[in-house]
Amino acid sequence: MCAVEDLTHTSFRKLSHLAICLKENIEANSSNFLKDFRLVPRAICDLDLDEIDTSTTIFGKHLAMPLMAAAMTGGHPEVRPINEIIAQVAQKSCIAMGVGSQRAALEKKIPYISESFQIVRELAPNILLIGNLGAAQFGKEWCFGKQEVQEAIDLIQADALAVHVNPAQELTQIEGDTCFHGFFDRVTEIAGQVKTPVLLKEVGSGMSREDASRVQGSHLAGIDVGGLGGTSWVAVEALRALEKQDRLHHEFGRTFWDWGIPTALSVVETRSVMDKVIIATGGVRNGLEAAQLLALGADCVGMALPFLKAAHQGMNEVEFLVQKFQLELKAAMLLTGCRTIADLRKIPIVVTGIGREWLLARGIDMTMPWRAKK
Ligand SMILES: Cc1cc2nc3c(=O)[nH]c(=O)nc-3n(C[C@H](O)[C@H](O)[C@H](O)COP(=O)(O)O)c2cc1C
Repeated sequence: MCAVEDLTHTSFRKLSHLAICLKENIEANSSNFLKDFRLVPRAICDLDLDEIDTSTTIFGKHLAMPLMAAAMTGGHPEVRPINEIIAQVAQKSCIAMGVGSQRAALEKKIPYISESFQIVRELAPNILLIGNLGAAQFGKEWCFGKQEVQEAIDLIQADALAVHVNPAQELTQIEGDTCFHGFFDRVTEIAGQVKTPVLLKEVGSGMSREDASRVQGSHLAGIDVGGLGGTSWVAVEALRALEKQDRLHHEFGRTFWDWGIPTALSVVETRSVMDKVIIATGGVRNGLEAAQLLALGADCVGMALPFLKAAHQGMNEVEFLVQKFQLELKAAMLLTGCRTIADLRKIPIVVTGIGREWLLARGIDMTMPWRAKK
């Protein structure tokens, strides 16, 4: 064990976030809006469950199914077992994984902190592994640059690096960084200088068409929409503020608890203007929802909270989660007449309710012309 005084505030905050996620209800009250995007059932599907192929390739890496255990943790010796369990299942099931923010490892070069990230690559040598840093660290008041990005990539031999943008979370966090000036230009400049793909990632408030247009015209390789409808990071910070008896941040968090673009709408918004990689996290809870998001234009889906809860129970629960996801995805594909993931992009989708109103209000073509192209 390392000396407590060696650990940074970032490390301790990570631990308290994890505890809140495990014991409190920190999900958005808003849904992910997938209920408004219906896949059309095909009773006469002419398929055998055994021939359904869920495999795909992202950033040059083969995946048995388009699923990622989304960025969560690392940075404290006590969270290392969670990364160990998820990494072993990811390797065995050939799915992707993201590590949590590597800021703690770059702030202080303490072996215990670095190892809690490095263990993932050790246990999962073949998977698509995505590193993670925060946008706030690239803003005016911080000095992260190409060197830190390369260090984060090298630490875990990452295949890609996600830079998380989380303004709503930072605003709710008691000690949040609230200056995001200049980070986009800095991150995109660095993205053009490193060989590894760099993407932008939200953490539960989603990304818009306007955001995606900027990514499309940049050196960035894609987006993780991190949409509304699952874990709400405003909620996590609001509850942490309550624990710390900070009434202002707690009540502020109550106001913005459901801030953001629901995941389904965020995928449609971003895909309507961007042909780069799209990962869909934010309230994805099963393989049927994954089929809907892939049909709308995502390349891969990610789940965070379900992996955390399963890992807390042990390896068998994580294996069950992945097994159930794949069966549900295969079933959804069979029931819509799709043999491959690419086929999902061609099937009809009926847009109803508020989802329909949203697309109309935003002037997004309801026929989703990008779908037929792939
Ligand atoms: C415990 C926990 C820790 C997280 N830490 C990070 C992080 O360090 N970096 C990041 O980009 N996203 C982080 N996230 C956000 C997730 O990657 C994901 O985008 C978000 O939780 C929505 O997915 P979900 O509804 O399946 O949880 C974290 C999520 C959870 C639950």
